[in-house]
Amino acid sequence: MAERAKYGAAAMAGITGKLPVPFPREMGPNCLKYLEEYVASGLTADITGRFEAAFARELGVKHCIATPGCTPALAMLASAFSFAPGDEIIVSPITDYGTLQGLIRENYIPVFADTDPGCINISARGIEPKITDRTRAILVVHKTGLMCDMEGINTLAARHGLIVYEDACQAVYSEWKGRFAGTFGLAAGFSFDSEKTMGSDVGGCVVTNDDELAERLRFVGLSRGAAMKPHFGRLHVVPGYAYRMPNCTAAICLGQLEIIREQVVRIDRAARLLNKLVARIPGIFPLKIPDQQNVWSCWMYGIRIDPAQFRCTPEEFADQLSQAGIPGAGMGKYYLMPAALTFLDENARNKVYPYSMPPASREYRYSEENCPQAKALLDSFIRWSTLCAKYEPEHCEMAAAIIEEVAEKNRR
Ligand SMILES: Cc1ncc(COP(=O)(O)O)c(C=O)c1O
Repeated sequence: MAERAKYGAAAMAGITGKLPVPFPREMGPNCLKYLEEYVASGLTADITGRFEAAFARELGVKHCIATPGCTPALAMLASAFSFAPGDEIIVSPITDYGTLQGLIRENYIPVFADTDPGCINISARGIEPKITDRTRAILVVHKTGLMCDMEGINTLAARHGLIVYEDACQAVYSEWKGRFAGTFGLAAGFSFDSEKTMGSDVGGCVVTNDDELAERLRFVGLSRGAAMKPHFGRLHVVPGYAYRMPNCTAAICLGQLEIIREQVVRIDRAARLLNKLVARIPGIFPLKIPDQQNVWSCWMYGIRIDPAQFRCTPEEFADQLSQAGIPGAGMGKYYLMPAALTFLDENARNKVYPYSMPPASREYRYSEENCPQAKALLDSFIRWSTLCAKYEPEHCEMAAAIIEEVAEKNRR
């Protein structure tokens, strides 16, 4: 039996080094108070409703629908859109399975657009060639907290009458020209998983300014697709979900919300300083921060190395960084979804529904060949998800010194 994959705090257990790690996390001073309030109320306090109102106010959006995670948040959205099986959704190829789970369960077909060369995100350039008469929506991911150029993507989508929505899991409070990630599309999903920037035990939400969509999301996602029929009760008119965020999770989210903005300021400062220090090392390239992005809520930090300049492989380079003290440094190849979703390629090859024809309109394949630029990036990309608000400038200097030491030891 293969080892089961781990997520959240379990995935970070035992990760140590010379630099700070997120766990144990700093908790908002009122987390316990809100938890106590819920228990003392005899389970009557609507803490989830309070968190929804607070998060919506913070982001400046009309609606927040809190869920037990971003995977359910995006699944709820996929269901609420009610596209037809076989319809295509264009998605970022470098992401987590949670971005795609809902699309697959709705029998939509994910189509991966390639990233721009050297970039971790998609843009209108990679999306445009993927648009067909079956395309219904574009689901972008602001990977690592770096933001996609939403102006270009929204313009392209408007030309083709497509919905745009955002996976902002890794970008809570990232800002592009002063506007928050998650407020550029029709809707967005967030994660408050324990390892995420605004971590609770689990948790997530959808935000939107669209009243009709918000109502539909509550109906499909929270009320299990059931309407009240007089003298009968709950009538299930569509296959819905029970994805309400628990009040205990909301109590922690509410408490974390009170400290998150200040933490993101510190994370942004650390990530930018580290980028500056790392850029001085020959053969090492930090991810570029778009000029328009004024806040980088960096959930995952990473560097690209030029393998031609070193005697070791990128994998060996990553191992050496980890051994030298960068906690959790490793490759991020598993994020290449067209290569990681082996069951989807199998389904497409075997014409398993919805890849049977119809409803699919053509042959689909999922492999690293779908997105050569994304693959090229991830082949030499070393990442660690432990950069956090605990980083002081001396930690950035220490991280850069470790990278330099490993680079010099292996330089050709
Ligand atoms: C980009 C992205 N999308 C979706 C998810 C899924 O979020 P959750 O764990 O809250 O379901 C994650 C979590 O790692 C993520 O990083």
